[in-house]
Formats: sequence, structure tokens, C-alpha cells
Amino acid sequence: MSKLKNDTFLRALLRQPTEYTPVWMMRQAGRYLPEYNQTRSRAKDFLSLCKNPDLATEATLQPLDRFPLDAAILFSDILTIPDAMGLGLYFSTGEGPKFERPLHNERGIRDLVVPDPNVHLRYVMDAVSQIRKALNNEVPLIGFSGSPFTLACYMVKGGSSTDFATIKTMLYQRPDLLHHILDVNARAVTAYLNAQIEAGAQAVMIFDTWGGVLSHAAYHEFSLAYLKQIVDGLKREHDGAKIPSIVYTKGGGLWLESIAAIGCNAVGLDWTIDIGEARHRVGDKVALQGNLDPAVLFSNPDTIRAEVGKVLHSYGWGNGHVFNLGHGISQFTLPENAAAMVAAVHELSRQYHCH
Ligand code: CP3
Repeated sequence: MSKLKNDTFLRALLRQPTEYTPVWMMRQAGRYLPEYNQTRSRAKDFLSLCKNPDLATEATLQPLDRFPLDAAILFSDILTIPDAMGLGLYFSTGEGPKFERPLHNERGIRDLVVPDPNVHLRYVMDAVSQIRKALNNEVPLIGFSGSPFTLACYMVKGGSSTDFATIKTMLYQRPDLLHHILDVNARAVTAYLNAQIEAGAQAVMIFDTWGGVLSHAAYHEFSLAYLKQIVDGLKREHDGAKIPSIVYTKGGGLWLESIAAIGCNAVGLDWTIDIGEARHRVGDKVALQGNLDPAVLFSNPDTIRAEVGKVLHSYGWGNGHVFNLGHGISQFTLPENAAAMVAAVHELSRQYHCH
């Protein structure tokens, strides 16, 4: 196995020394890039793009061709798992994801089975190995999945939600049914992430986008417990290299200590929490990833540089910080503003590291 040319991102996740703070952006491949929109128009739609390893590889590399990012992330979606379970994922323009066969009754829930990732999600594993080849060991590749709870939100509703009434009704009326879905999902996510690691993913991230809508008690019982089940089952090494894991709960700032205690290497932060305070709270248990407000990128290069400086200053001196946005980059972002953010992180962060 040849050596990674830039392993700054992996070292930061393991809280080892780096010369600067590594940076990547959630949703770095996407509609704010004109070249992405071109690639997508060559596929039939977004899902066909995900299912075509050549095009998924092309989309993954696009942001890296533009910006000196320290990591690549697999181009795919979190909803590939429920699709592989037979729910029939499709994207209708302007309306987000939808399922043809959502979990609307107990029978459907009891019939759920864990898909074999190397069969039903073969296209994802093919994309991972193809992307690894194309990256040529320049930067590491991040694999990812949704959290069991976040996937369940879409599976019971059949699409996006604003009030989470469907999932919360089930949570309080039939907690047994929701626990069953979450257990199947946790086993599916574990197998899926381990298959991505086998195929070449060098770090993995779990997106718990909707955990933050839960009450304190419900978050621990219905989201965090299953995140822990996954982290417990993840491969920690592959090909002689450590495989760090990142857990991101949007709105999870209140539960930082509990998240840091489940055994992941890093915790992803949204923009609502002060990263210095977060660092103080987790101590040396985990690395932190985040947490610039994505809306900062709607401003201008001077403001972006100043806001990047504030996040770096708040984290302070030393290791264990991966710079990122607090959530995905908006489709309305100007690519030159993303470039200004990446440059500012690389430049301004050197003063916080040993040389
Ligand atoms: O970060 C990356 O560049 C990797 C690719 C990636 C996508 N989705 C591509 C995508 C990742 C990591 C995701 C994760 C994802 N998908 C999450 C969790 C992270 C988050 O943003 O909170 C969620 C909740 C989804 C489900 C999903 N996929 C939704 C709700 C939508 C529609 C909303 C929207 O932005 O349009 C998608 C579609 C989607 N996933 C797009 C992309 C580039 C846009 C599709 C298009 O091209 O039209």
C-alpha cells in the first residue's frame, strides 16, 4: 500500500500533530458548482448519478480540482440504505427525497431486512474503489452513512418533514416498533460502513441530521444508543492504517459529553456552539470537526477570512481540529467564497500549530 501524500486530515482526527488545520466542506460536491450541475444533467437524475461509479467519481473529484481540500468525500446519499431495503427512493425536482413504499404499517416494519452491502449497495463499493484509484493517494477518502434515527425519519414519513410528527407519534405511541426499525438500521449502517472501509474508505462519518429534534431523554434512547451500537461494530483498522470515525448530530451541542463518550474519534459540531467551549467540555476524549455557519459564505472574502479566524482562535492552540462548515454548503454559495474559506483556514491556522 503506497503512502498518502497529505494525511493531515487523518492525523487531526487522531489528535496527532499537524502543521496546519485541515479543511473540507460537508456537501462539497453539489449544486453550487456549475461543473456538478453539468455532470448531473448527463446522468438522468441525482440518483442515477449516485448509482453510476464513473459519474460519482467525477463528482467527488470536482471540488478537489477547484480547492486545495484536505479530504474527499464519497459522492452518494444517506438514503441509499433504505433504497436497498426496497423502499424505492426517488428525487422529484424541488421537493427533495421521496419513497415509493414508506413504512406505513407494522407488517412492512417487521419485514425489514439488513441489505448485504456488497450485493444491494455494490454500486457504492464500486464507486469507493474507483474514487480511491482516481485520488492516487493525494488526500484521504471519507465514507459515510446516515444515523439510524435520521434514516428512520425519512423511512416512516416517506420524504422530508418539517414537524417530525410521524416519527414522534411512533416514538411515543409504539416505541417498540421504532426500536425495531432502529436496530435493523444500526445493523445495516454498521455493515455498510465496514464494507466502505474494505473497499477503501479511510475515515467514516455518520450524519445524524435530525437527532437534534428530540428531547433530551429521547435523543439518548432513540439516537445515541444506536450510534454507539454502530461505533462499537466499526472496523478500527484496515490495511495497517487506523480508520477514524466522526459522529455529527445537528443540534447536538447540549449532548456533547455523551456523544464524545460513545467511542468515536471525532465529534462534528453545527454552528450554534462555541468550538472553544466545546473543546473545553470534551477535553482530550475526541477531536472536533466544524463549525463555521454556512451562511458566512454568503458574504465576501474579507468577512469570510475574519469569521474563519474567529473559529480558529476559539479552538485555540494545538491539535485535534478539522475545520468544516456547521452543516452542508448551500447551493446558492459562490464557489469563489468557498475558495476564500479554504485559503483562510490554511493560512491563518499555522500560528496554532508547531512547525
Ligand atoms: O458531502 C458531499 O459532498 C457528499 C455527498 C452527500 C450528499 N448528501 C449529496 C446530495 C452527502 C454526505 C449527503 C448526506 C445527506 N443526504 C444528508 C445528511 C447531511 C445533511 O445535509 O444533513 C441528508 C439528510 C440527505 C438526504 C437528502 N439528499 C436530502 C434531504 C436531499 C435534498 C435536499 C437538497 O439539498 O436538495 C438530498 C439530495 C442531495 N444529496 C443532493 C446532493 C448533492 C442534491 C441533489 C441534486 O443534485 O439535486
